[in-house]
Amino acid sequence: MANFLMLYSTTDGHTLEICRRLQQQIEAGSQSVTLLPIDEAPATAAELEAFDRIVLGASIRYGRHGKPVADFIQRHRALLERKPNAFFSVNLVARKPQKNTPQTNPYLKKFLRRVRWQPKQMAVFAGKLDYPRYGRLDRAIIRFIMLITGGPTDPASTTEFTDWSRVDAFAQELCRHDSMNG
Ligand SMILES: Cc1cc2nc3c(=O)[nH]c(=O)nc-3n(C[C@H](O)[C@H](O)[C@H](O)COP(=O)(O)O)c2cc1C
Repeated sequence: MANFLMLYSTTDGHTLEICRRLQQQIEAGSQSVTLLPIDEAPATAAELEAFDRIVLGASIRYGRHGKPVADFIQRHRALLERKPNAFFSVNLVARKPQKNTPQTNPYLKKFLRRVRWQPKQMAVFAGKLDYPRYGRLDRAIIRFIMLITGGPTDPASTTEFTDWSRVDAFAQELCRHDSMNG
């Protein structure tokens, strides 16, 4: 039975929701998942060594994943690369079919280039647009971006673009040891 460490970086909680779904699916396959915000990741190599596989998930805010994600990768690169590992990104650009894979999503590609890391498994998920939750400035900026990119602009609306069947498919992939070692 594999013992997963799943670390997430979120602002509004959607990445955590995706992690919970992955956790549920993985645990349904009799594997165990320790789910933590990346700020509370085990700090020492010895603690990290206790896990068989490491999965990182992070959302995009104004073009960037949270800084703790890159910091974690830099700090634990050698250990990370010795283990089956995976990364997924959550963003709204991925609502566009031509930008929703690891090969086509600009944020994921740019981030991995910048941190010089090639995860063994990767995914991109379209996120959630939740205008009522945003502060005035963020709401105005996101509305403008949606206006110019053809997305929803009603400031009272919430739209979840996540394709949960793709999340489930990724969970299955994570469970397959061979593909994570690939
Ligand atoms: C202030 C703000 C900035 C955002 N910037 C981007 C962005 O630059 N590109 C993008 O594709 N999505 C962007 N998003 C969309 C988020 O990535 C999306 O809502 C995601 O589901 C958030 O996940 P989280 O709740 O885990 O933080 C932004 C959202 C907010 C609220």
